[in-house]
Amino acid sequence: MDKLRIVGGNRLSGEVSISGAKNAALPILCAALLTPDPIVLRNVPALNDIHTTLKVLGQLGVKVQWLEPGVVQLQANEISSYEAPYELVKTMRASILVLGPLLARFGQARVSLPGGCAIGQRPVDQHIKGLAALGADIRVEHGFVVAKAKKLQGASIRTDMVTVGGTEQFLMSAVLANGTTVLENAAREPEVVDLAELLISMGASISGHGTDRIVINGVGQLHGTDYTVVPDRIEAGTFLCAVAAAGGEITLRNAAPDTMGAILDKLTEAGLQLETGSDWIRASMHGRPRAVGIKTFEHPGFPTDMQAQIMALDSIANGTSFIVENIFENRYMHVPELIRMGADIELDGHTAVVNGVQQLFGAKVMATDLRASASLVIAALAATGETIIDRIYHLDRGYERMEVKLKALGAQIERLRG
Ligand code: UD1
Repeated sequence: MDKLRIVGGNRLSGEVSISGAKNAALPILCAALLTPDPIVLRNVPALNDIHTTLKVLGQLGVKVQWLEPGVVQLQANEISSYEAPYELVKTMRASILVLGPLLARFGQARVSLPGGCAIGQRPVDQHIKGLAALGADIRVEHGFVVAKAKKLQGASIRTDMVTVGGTEQFLMSAVLANGTTVLENAAREPEVVDLAELLISMGASISGHGTDRIVINGVGQLHGTDYTVVPDRIEAGTFLCAVAAAGGEITLRNAAPDTMGAILDKLTEAGLQLETGSDWIRASMHGRPRAVGIKTFEHPGFPTDMQAQIMALDSIANGTSFIVENIFENRYMHVPELIRMGADIELDGHTAVVNGVQQLFGAKVMATDLRASASLVIAALAATGETIIDRIYHLDRGYERMEVKLKALGAQIERLRG
């Protein structure tokens, strides 16, 4: 298993190019199932989760071809199977998103239930409830969600909580349904908006995306498109936390600051100086960060996917901060690892109290999930001495060549193959 070796203390400087958003690309790849025409997607990051999704699609019979780095062409004109097996779904929950498109276009799907994951239980009950509302005959059998429908029918769907994946599932199901579907309590995340824009470019009729009420008028068929995936706001936010922790001055290229309001506000509060253009962000940090409290919420609130990285920053900040995780029940597994590096953090249920310390110290630590891994990288960049981060396959699921990008910014970082 690969590890990262980081020697902290170097300030960061230079430019870094932000990749396409993993969480936008995953549903967008699944949307290729909705048309027999070819779809060309640009700005697709080369990540393990993307390769897993392409494997799932390939097993269904979708033709997948990388035209050049970052550009993939998909064509679903000869589907040979309607089943996503456990072996693939268990490694990546987002594969549940083939369910809606298969059902909408072919009237049948059999997708393994994802099961729990490191950050919590993460059920898919809302996905099932919404697809049933659209007229699917849907049940759980032998660990699979099995669904059938002659033709989905437009309906009103109100989920019990805001769900990003659920909203994406219903968007991809309702675009080919008979009549109008209204999604109430819909997720407003930029990745949901990106999926809606992709579907519109394929001929779908959707309005209200980006608000909590999305209206979809079903159409008879969708056609091919050429679409560029939105930049990754979480990757961009992670690099900003890195410079806020290590100090220095960096410029992010191919970024989308208009999708990052809550993140940019908090980092400004922490003392990071920011300048933004339509697709770039310049950030400089001098001195020690100020402690900033956060409460994670659905967009446009502070994203749960940035919680761990902000905690790493707060660990070395001046003052005490309160962090409240509202979205997932078990998303503090980075805490014991940060404590191994000298952080002073107390956990009380969903709240973490972080007393900033002057200095973190390099240590051997273990990555436990994707964003937890990123928080350890940030802590290591700011720490004195050497940190070895084990199990970085978690990091590779969501960050494209992170060590290469950080090295180019002046960090002392290397991948130890093993
Ligand atoms: C997506 C993101 C993930 C991010 C999360 C919240 C992708 C691939 N992943 O995950 O990085 O952290 O949004 O912004 O885009 N829930 C249920 N039943 C359901 C669906 C969700 O109880 O049927 C709960 C979940 O357990 C969680 C909350 O609702 O507590 C929000 O989950 P959701 O927004 O669906 O997250 P994902 O789409 O899985």
